[in-house]
Amino acid sequence: MAAKVWGRCFPWVWLCRSAWPGGRHYRAARCAELKRPLAIEEVAPRPVRPHEVRVDVHFCGVNFADILVCRGQYQERPHLPFTPGMEFSGTVLETGTDVSTVKEGDRVIGVSGFTGMAEECVIDQKALWQIPEGVPLREAASLPVSYGTAIMALEHRACTQPGETVLVTAAAGATGLAVIDVATHVLQAKVIAAAGSDEKCRLAVERGAQASVNYSQGSLRDAVTELVGSGGVNVAIDTVGGDIFLEALRSLAWEGRIVVVGFAGGNIASVSANLLLLKNISAMGVYWGRYRDQNFPVFSRSLSSALQYCQEGRIQPHIGVVFKLEEVNDAFLHVIQRKSTGKVLISLK
Ligand SMILES: NC(=O)c1ccc[n+]([C@@H]2O[C@H](COP(=O)([O-])OP(=O)(O)OC[C@H]3O[C@@H](n4cnc5c(N)ncnc54)[C@H](OP(=O)(O)O)[C@@H]3O)[C@@H](O)[C@H]2O)c1
Repeated sequence: MAAKVWGRCFPWVWLCRSAWPGGRHYRAARCAELKRPLAIEEVAPRPVRPHEVRVDVHFCGVNFADILVCRGQYQERPHLPFTPGMEFSGTVLETGTDVSTVKEGDRVIGVSGFTGMAEECVIDQKALWQIPEGVPLREAASLPVSYGTAIMALEHRACTQPGETVLVTAAAGATGLAVIDVATHVLQAKVIAAAGSDEKCRLAVERGAQASVNYSQGSLRDAVTELVGSGGVNVAIDTVGGDIFLEALRSLAWEGRIVVVGFAGGNIASVSANLLLLKNISAMGVYWGRYRDQNFPVFSRSLSSALQYCQEGRIQPHIGVVFKLEEVNDAFLHVIQRKSTGKVLISLK
């Protein structure tokens, strides 16, 4: 509903420019006021500090969380004005005096708090990973948040085993398709994809899911029972929340694990603890970005694994659409109106 109000009140092509006097500038999407369209502004570059790297950004991912940040509805709230964008790919332009991990010209992906939707960004060397040969910049940009989260949820949290059955909700979304890709093609699990339309279900099956359920047409739990029997699924990865989360929880098998990834539907469910006891179920959360501060080796491994799987051809990110920087507000609408499939990118070139 909030998205409708937002879209109705303000023109989505409302892009203003505020030029800074003198010197070289680069373009950046700027959020100056929450719940308002972003503006494209000319920004003056700042010098790199000893541990920092200046990157020529080629592609930046658009995540559901970017939209929440720009509405003030995310767990992290940057000071205004800020440039959204949590992940990007590009080439190194300049390195600070203490930088030893990358050099000028290197192709990198970066995980930035809030800086990615700009032609240039300056970032700590620790937030960059080299892109291996053979992985294009476009595909690389779609890996960090979605595949990092999928790998963290499936491998590190749920300890998914070969042959197990994984149920994933919003399955045709960015995180959803990444979960299908990793579960099917890396972990040799069987995936049941749950999504909000027949078209999305078809895409999820094309991308590796064994079966699909359109949860806009009836009970998710009944449909899952029909597919796997009363035994249930071993792992559920939920990005929707609310009733869909509760139905996914009730679809679990003995010793099943459910991972809370997000609340795209807008509601946070409460769990009756007896449901966990009766089938020896584990309910757990994953906040991928938080691992950067809490357990950097695990965080870094999720990114290195995504890059390695991609180089080996074991995973293939699905890029639904690429917008230009000046279309950033259309990109946000595309995601919030449930029109997106796979990764939505902004091209800065
Ligand atoms: N915890 C973490 O570390 C982490 C990391 C990445 C993402 N996330 C979270 O995971 C969720 C998905 O993120 P994403 O970037 O991968 O987005 P996405 O799946 O590409 O897009 C959101 C999808 O959610 C579904 N949805 C259900 N109800 C919705 C509603 N009321 N409004 C909008 N969408 C709705 C839609 O799919 P259907 O039409 O198929 O229902 C929609 O396409 C978000 O909540 C995000 O914050 C969390």
